[in-house]
Amino acid sequence: MNIHTSARPSPVLRVEGLSKQFEMHHLNRTLHAFENIGFELGEGEFILLKGENGAGKSTLLRTLYRTYLPRAGHAYYYGREGMIDLAAAADVDIAVLRRQEIGFVTQFLNARPRVAAEELVSEPLRLAGMPRSEALAQARHWLQSFGVKPQLWPAYPSTFSGGEQQKVNLARALILPQRLLLLDEPTASLDGAARRALVERLAELKASGVAMIGVFHHPEDVAGLIDREIQLETTRVLDEADHVAQ
Ligand SMILES: Nc1ncnc2c1ncn2[C@@H]1O[C@H](COP(=O)(O)OP(=O)(O)O)[C@@H](O)[C@H]1O
Ligand SMILES: [Mg+2]
Repeated sequence: MNIHTSARPSPVLRVEGLSKQFEMHHLNRTLHAFENIGFELGEGEFILLKGENGAGKSTLLRTLYRTYLPRAGHAYYYGREGMIDLAAAADVDIAVLRRQEIGFVTQFLNARPRVAAEELVSEPLRLAGMPRSEALAQARHWLQSFGVKPQLWPAYPSTFSGGEQQKVNLARALILPQRLLLLDEPTASLDGAARRALVERLAELKASGVAMIGVFHHPEDVAGLIDREIQLETTRVLDEADHVAQ
C-alpha cells in the first residue's frame, strides 16, 4: 500500500436510492420520510446529517440500523466478513453486525433493573472476550471521563438523573470501537464537560478508522470532525390521489 496516496479511504457504507415512507392507514395517506438518498462513507470519515425537525434524520439512521426496512434502495455495508446490503440482509445477520460492528448512539439509556452502571458499561468488552477485571477498569475510566461520580459506579442507573443516565449510555456505546457508528443527537442536554469528553472520544475513534454519520444538537461541537454534510428536506405528505398518480 502506498501511504502517500490521496485516494478516498476504503468504503464502509455506500447508500443508493434509499427511500422510506410511512403508510398512515388511518388517514389514507403516505408520508415520505426521505427519498432517494445516496452517499458514500469511508473509513475514518464523519458525515453530519442536517435538516429541520421531522425531516427524516432519525428515520434514516434507524433505517441504516435496520430498525426499519426501507421502501427502496440499497445500503451496502463493507464489513469484516465482506459486503452486505443492510436494506435486504436477514435479521440474523443484522443482529450479528449490531453486536460486533455497527453501533447506534442516542441520548437515551436502556437501563436494566439491578445492573450496576460499571457492569452495564463494561458489558460490550466482556462480550468481546475481555477478562472481567480489565473490562471493569476500562468502564470506570470512561465513566470518569464522561463525568459520572465514582460513588455512582456500583449503583443502578435506573435511579440516576437524565443527564447521568446519558453519560452512562455514552460510556457504554463508545467503549468498544465499532466499524460504523450511527449517532442520533447524543449530546442533547449534556453538560459542557461531557460534551467535550464525547467529542474527544469521537475524534479518537475517527482517527482509528471508525466511520460515523450523525445528527448533532450542537453541530459546532463536532465542526472539526466533519468531512461532509447531508441535508434532508422536510417531509411531504402525499394524499391518496398523489399516491395513485405516481
Ligand atoms: N414510526 C413512525 N410511524 C409513522 N411516522 C413516523 C414514524 N417515525 C417517524 N415518523 C414521521 O417521519 C417524519 C420524520 O421523522 P424523524 O425521522 O423522527 O425526523 P427528525 O429526526 O429529522 O426530526 C416525521 O414526520 C415523523 O412524524
Ligand atoms: Mg430525530
